[in-house]
Amino acid sequence: MNGQPVHLAAVLGHELRNPLAAAMTGASLLRELLDTGDPRLPTVAGVLRDLGRIDRLLTSWLDFARTGQLRREPVDLAALLREFTSATVTVDVVADDVSVAGDGSLLRRVFANLIENAQAAGAHNVQIRLEARSGGLLRVRIDDDGPGIPTDRAAGLFTAGVSHRGSTGLGLAIVQTTITAHGGFVRCEPRPRGGRFVIELAALAAPAPVHATMA
Ligand SMILES: Nc1ncnc2c1ncn2[C@@H]1O[C@H](COP(=O)(O)OP(=O)(O)OP(=O)(O)O)[C@@H](O)[C@H]1O
Ligand SMILES: [Mg+2]
Repeated sequence: MNGQPVHLAAVLGHELRNPLAAAMTGASLLRELLDTGDPRLPTVAGVLRDLGRIDRLLTSWLDFARTGQLRREPVDLAALLREFTSATVTVDVVADDVSVAGDGSLLRRVFANLIENAQAAGAHNVQIRLEARSGGLLRVRIDDDGPGIPTDRAAGLFTAGVSHRGSTGLGLAIVQTTITAHGGFVRCEPRPRGGRFVIELAALAAPAPVHATMA
């Protein structure tokens, strides 16, 4: 991704900060007005949680755009991936205590983007698998049962502005920028059926495999 989208992120971050703060204040006020046990409380709490996530994401992008440096904190990758578990998304973790040094807000968006893409392409199911590889690497594989990606298209998809569905074509460019800034790799791998993206990141500490995996 060239500097343009990062610059755009900084502009958006700057412009969204005040309305976002107002929305968070409003939602906090609403939470205080509701009695304990009010059935609307979980919804308000969910809105507050999501607004908080947007706020942290904006801070991360603004800092990254300004300094070119990422926030580096221990991120439990297994826990982060398990947040995506749903009726249509399975998360299979075959290593324990798997942390990376990075920015959890940005990494969460990486997997959200890949899942959103799979679903937008028509996938019904997404399978995420996290495993420990040799050399202190963690590998995340995101498979889907959608139409897949023609081999000759795969490499170009990471270029900003490339969309085959009339969208902005920024998702994979953001994914690549984020993963590269974390010192990792992302690639689209060919499969006989369905889409597959693979991400490799350095583990913070030597991960302990839960059980031996087939090569
Ligand atoms: N899992 C997938 N299955 C099939 N095609 C995919 C998959 N993931 C990405 N693609 C293709 O890659 C293109 C680029 O993806 P990218 O996320 O960069 O942009 P987009 O989804 O089109 O737009 P945006 O993310 O900005 O809304 C998509 O338009 C789609 O054609
Ligand atoms: Mg996308």
